[in-house]
This record gives sequence, C-alpha cells and structure tokens, in this order.
Amino acid sequence: MDAISLLAKKLADLVRKWDDVVVVSHYDADGITSAAILVSALRSIGKDVRFINVKQLYSDQVEEVKDMGSAFIFSDLGIGQISILLDQMRAPFIVLDHHEIPPGREYPYLLHPHLFGIDGSRELSGAGISYIFARALSGRKDLAALAVVGAVGDVQLVDNALVGYNRKILKDAIEAGKVFAYRDLALYGRVSRPLPYMFVYSTNPVLPGLTANESAVYDFLDAAGIPYRDDTGRILSYVDLSAEDKRKLFTELSMYLLSRGWDSQRLQSLLGEVYELTDEDPHSPLRDVREYATLLNACGRHGKPEVGVRVAMGDRGKYYDEALSLLRHHREALRKGVDYVVDNGLVQLDSIQYFHAHDVIPASVVGIVAGMIYSSGIASFKKPIVGMAYEDEEHVKVSARATSRLVSAGVDLSRAMRAAAEQVGGEAGGHKPAAGARIPRGAEDEFLRRLDRVVSAQLGAT
Ligand code: C5P
Ligand code: ZN
Repeated sequence: MDAISLLAKKLADLVRKWDDVVVVSHYDADGITSAAILVSALRSIGKDVRFINVKQLYSDQVEEVKDMGSAFIFSDLGIGQISILLDQMRAPFIVLDHHEIPPGREYPYLLHPHLFGIDGSRELSGAGISYIFARALSGRKDLAALAVVGAVGDVQLVDNALVGYNRKILKDAIEAGKVFAYRDLALYGRVSRPLPYMFVYSTNPVLPGLTANESAVYDFLDAAGIPYRDDTGRILSYVDLSAEDKRKLFTELSMYLLSRGWDSQRLQSLLGEVYELTDEDPHSPLRDVREYATLLNACGRHGKPEVGVRVAMGDRGKYYDEALSLLRHHREALRKGVDYVVDNGLVQLDSIQYFHAHDVIPASVVGIVAGMIYSSGIASFKKPIVGMAYEDEEHVKVSARATSRLVSAGVDLSRAMRAAAEQVGGEAGGHKPAAGARIPRGAEDEFLRRLDRVVSAQLGAT
C-alpha cells in the first residue's frame, strides 16, 4: 500500500466511527464527482449522509453548513480556508483537497497530494483524492471511473492524457470494467455531436478553415469521402465511423491543415487518449469522459450542482433531463463568452494579458472562457491570461490561467493572485497554472497592476 493510501486508511478508520455525516464539496465537475464518490462510498457502508456543493468556502458558507450534521468531510476545497474552518467549526471534520496549501497552517486530518510530493494541479484531482479515501473506506474500486471524470473536468490532462497518480486511478477504473481508454482523434464531441458539428464547433483547437464554417466542413467531408449519414439517413458521430474511415479522415484532415500552415507537431496535438464509460449509452454525452465532465460543470456553474451529483450517482431520469438542458444553456454561455473576447480583444500588460467582460459573461464561467481562449490559440502563450466579470453588485470575479511552460519558468498564479488580491481587500486561491480571486468592484486596475508586477517578478526570478 502506498503512503497516501495508508493515510487514507487512518482517516477512514476515524470516519467509520461517525454517523450523520455531511459532505461539503466544491461546485465544479471535480467537486461534484468528489461528492458523488464520497456519498456513494459512505452509503455503501451504511452511513447516513447528506451533501452540499458550494462555490467558495467563505465564513458565511461555513456558518451555513456547520450545524447541518454531526461530522463533516470537506472535499475539493477546505485547505485554502483552513483558518476559517478551525475558527468556526465545532464538529469533527476531515479535509480531502488538492489546492495549494497556504503557508503557516497545518492540519492533521488532511489528505492532500502535496503531502506526498504529488502535483495537485495535474497528477491528482479533488475527485482523485476523494476516491483514494473512498476506496480505503468501502473497498469500492468502481468509483475510480468518477475520479477519472473529475480529473478531466479539472483540466488535469497533459498533452491530452492523464498523468501521474491519475493513471493509477485510471487503471483501477479499467480493472473494475468501468472505463476503456484508447488513442484517437480527441476533438470535443466525438460521441454526442453529429460529425460535421464536431468540426464546426471545435475551439480546442480552432481548425483554420473549418471551425465556424459549416459549408466548408461539408465540402471537406464530401471531398474526403467520409460519410456523415448511415443508409437510413441517420446522422453519424465520429465514434460511428469504421476504423478505416477514421484513418482516412485523419489523413485528409492532416493534409487540409498542413496546407493551411500547420506543422506536424500541431497535428499530433489533435490526437490523445480518450476515455469511454462502458456502462453508458454509446451516444450519450456521459459516454465520453470529456463530455461527461462538461455536463457536470454545466450543472455546477449554472447553480444546480446537486443535479450533477444525482447524475453522477446514477440518475438517468428527471435529473439527467435537467442536466441536458443545463448543458445546452452552458454551451450557449460559453459561445457568447468566447465571441465577446474575440470581438473585444485582450489588453496587454508587461507579463499578463486580460479581458474584462463586465456583465456579458457570467462570473461562474469566466475561467472556462479564459481557458478556451487560451487553448483555441487566439491568445499568446507567452503570458498568463486573466479574465474578469462582475460577480455581484460589490465584487469582481477574476480567473487566471498559465501554460505549463510558464509554470516551469516560475509562474505561480496561486501565489500571485493571493498577493495581488490581499493588497486590494480581496481573496484568492487555486493552483500554479489556474487560480481564481474575488476582489471589490473598482479595484480592478490596481489589482491588475499588482498582479502584473508579481508575475513579472516570478518570470524574472528564474
Ligand atoms: O474560479 P476559477 O475557475 O478561476 O478557479 C481556478 C482554481 O482556483 C480552481 O481550482 C478554484 O477552486 C481555485 N480557487 C480558489 N480560491 C478562490 C478562487 C478560486 O482556490 N478564491
Ligand atoms: Zn478540484
């Protein structure tokens, strides 16, 4: 047994003595899958358990939850707010988190990748750490499949594949017969989108000549001889193609993109490891792990994380229907957000580039939009990207993202955002390559100036 599983076992021994447990988790795909994993494991050993998903854990939220039950598990959040928890919680609690540990406060009932030299931003997610705990508690390896969804939802893929401890979890999921993994064209929508729309809507990456150009996509598929309807006229998805047609499609796509200035390295980035869930319908958005994660994010980011938890725990009825409609709404919000940034452009400072979407992009998706702008190739990779939008009457939500190359060069957005936010009376946290903050309205310029200065220093210091 590895060291992390040993500590998980100790915490599991403690939790086994508890009853009336409340799981408090984050509201995104990683937090939703964390909650589903923990609730399922606790119920399978006969515990009474409830769950709640929150956007952030400020002292207001802690006041709200602290009397909900007689013991607590905080998942995919908690370590950034450990001071608040220690001050306000009366009941016993454990923390299963993977966000940066702020300096100064230690906590003995913490399971965290950084305690074991594992990178919490790409090698192990909140759902992963929750799974390690849940496996120690209940022995259930089938729950690994949800941890794979959580890791992908947390944008932990490196060159389009899971790495580090996430691969051990993937192995559990495969051995439990819940997931199969293979290398293929890794464009979004390969399972549930009609084949032409997989290209028309591709933003990760933008495909020159094809993205947002429906008639060009039909011309391309016709010229390549790739069918997008079967004999009965039913529209096909990418996964419906024969192995031979898939190969032919990749060859034709390569030639098409090479003629538009791509090089072979760029072409390779279209390929990746894809993950399918064996129990799901072959055309459901839950079949493909990337699409599943988006569906859960849609639930959480649009105010209905509990719908996502029910789906992740197996509901395929009314909660699933609601999730599908939230997914449509989510896609629309993302499309509008990306259009806004493309139309308005990014403002360049010395070491960061930013956009302020005011009321146009909901605060809950501004981070996803920033990530999409980055991966679409619209923004330069030389600087971190920062997105802002109004969160409420008083606050601005800030999301920052950096490439792994920038992180290797010294960028730590979690520290930088915390340093800049503190100076203007805001709060921040996250990971080196992805961090978020909430600052008072009106403090944007001051905040950006300070953030730019800290990031410049981080880059200059190496
Ligand atoms: O909100 P956003 O998607 O930009 O957050 C990026 C990362 O930073 C997430 O993992 C989020 O949980 C974390 N975060 C945090 N504390 C904040 C804001 C964001 O730990 N105050
Ligand atoms: Zn997470």
